[in-house]
Amino acid sequence: MSELKSFLYLAATFGAAIIISKVIRAQLTTWKLRHVPTVGPKGFFSSYYGGVHFIKHAYEMAQEGYNKYQGRAFKVRMPDQWLVVITGPDMINDFRKAGDDYLSFDDAIATTIQTDYTIGKETRLNNYHLGVVRTSLTRNISHRFGDVRDEIVNAFSEEIPIKNDWVTVPALSTVMRIVCRTTNRLFVDLPLCRESDYMRLNIEFTVDVFKAARIINLFPDLLKPIAGNLLTPISKAVRQARRHLEPMIQERLDQDDQYGKNWAGRPNDLLSWLLDENPQGDLRTVRDLTLRILNINMAAIHTTSMAFTHILYYLSIQPDEVITVLREEVEASLNEHGWSKLAMGQLRRMDSFMKECVRSAGGHALSIDREVLKDFTFSDGTTIPAGSRVAIASFALHHDERYYEDPYEFKPFRFADMRAQEGESIKHQMITPNPEYMFFGAGRHAWWVSYQSVRQQCLKYRIFTSSPGRFFAVNELKTLIAHTLLTYDVKLEHDSKTVPKPFCFGRTMMPNRTAKVMFRKRSTYN
Ligand SMILES: *[C@@H]1O[C@H](CO)[C@@H](O)[C@H](O)[C@H]1NC(C)=O
Ligand SMILES: *[C@@H]1O[C@H](CO)[C@@H](O)[C@H](O)[C@H]1NC(C)=O
Repeated sequence: MSELKSFLYLAATFGAAIIISKVIRAQLTTWKLRHVPTVGPKGFFSSYYGGVHFIKHAYEMAQEGYNKYQGRAFKVRMPDQWLVVITGPDMINDFRKAGDDYLSFDDAIATTIQTDYTIGKETRLNNYHLGVVRTSLTRNISHRFGDVRDEIVNAFSEEIPIKNDWVTVPALSTVMRIVCRTTNRLFVDLPLCRESDYMRLNIEFTVDVFKAARIINLFPDLLKPIAGNLLTPISKAVRQARRHLEPMIQERLDQDDQYGKNWAGRPNDLLSWLLDENPQGDLRTVRDLTLRILNINMAAIHTTSMAFTHILYYLSIQPDEVITVLREEVEASLNEHGWSKLAMGQLRRMDSFMKECVRSAGGHALSIDREVLKDFTFSDGTTIPAGSRVAIASFALHHDERYYEDPYEFKPFRFADMRAQEGESIKHQMITPNPEYMFFGAGRHAWWVSYQSVRQQCLKYRIFTSSPGRFFAVNELKTLIAHTLLTYDVKLEHDSKTVPKPFCFGRTMMPNRTAKVMFRKRSTYN
């Protein structure tokens, strides 16, 4: 009995000590950041209330700080910690150029999407699969273009029947199924890419990862492990995915063991590309390979679906003149090059249109986080102490009239015109990050696709949203849009002429999740 008592006493003391040290640490960070002006509630208690305020008002707070402190830093209180927001081209350039040992992308991603609980600690500790996306997958885009295009044609005709009457479909869920199926034509090929349960589980995992991350980040650090272990979607997803992937993975491992890597008929797919990297030990198991295939799926589905849904909403409200310009450009390029990566690369007006959709939607209030590992001093002299988090006010930046004339106006060919005027062919392309445009992330970690958000990545490109996937994503997006333009007329339900309101939660934004889009066979389609 007395042993139990002393155990409880010890446990209570230990628990109290942890809590006190956390509170002291939080206060110390606040104190170290006292030279950075605050937007929103401040002070000891209100800073906790501030976290709640932030969830509702992140966009206004980011805009207020952006307007008031232009060229400087400010901070806002999030539910779990302070976020330092930097503004102006000089600070953003310092930010882009800073080494990973100062401003770490990986560490920030680990917290923004709570990787250990959402996508697996093992994929954070060794992320060789991102290198595979950057190299093998990117190299094979052109080679496998025909397959992916074939799947796009099939998936569209099943999801959105080509009829003379209007067909109404919910945009986001339909887009997610089309994207899942077409990317998996490249990842795992037929017949699995069309298997409905396989598609369902990959989409569910994608949705669950971001949902779990949103919720876990509402908890203070102390409670995150508890919330994380309750909400983790990993074991369920792996269990379900193994049902489909295990026979294929086991067979490939056996064949590779027996014949090496050059046996006749070895598929040219994601699994072979992963095994080409010689994963060893725990990394060369059905479970680990399943988890990596799930992760690559999640990143690809998330980024491409979010971007395509935004774009589809804008496409649905364009006047005929804009649609005609886009269609003519696609037809001219296809006449010259046929359906190919090369043809998609020629679509400058489409590239501009896509980029303008994403700019106009604006993205997250605050994103592109970096964790400060060593005290970092910006060129204006502001020092941000180790242990803080730094981010950029993406939405405000994308609506800054110093960079964009009439920022709240949608100008489909804004970037194409800038390209033509300045004679700079690369700078204004969708995949090129610059200080005024952060869709694909900044600097060396410019994203995979990430959509916006997420965020995510060039290893050095070590992150999943890292730029490895962005070439694939942009190419796929163009093919999806080209197919849509040549096959259908599109409009919004109820003939609405405004883009459906996006879903915002805290500082994050995604396209409206329920709005419907109507499709009809294009008059000249045959
Ligand atoms: C596809 O990727 C594999 C693995 O990196 C590579 O060996 C192969 O050459 C690529 N195929 C093409 C056509 O580039
Ligand atoms: C999504 O769009 C629909 C239709 O336009 C609208 O009724 C709904 O409120 C929107 N959802 C959100 C979260 O704004």
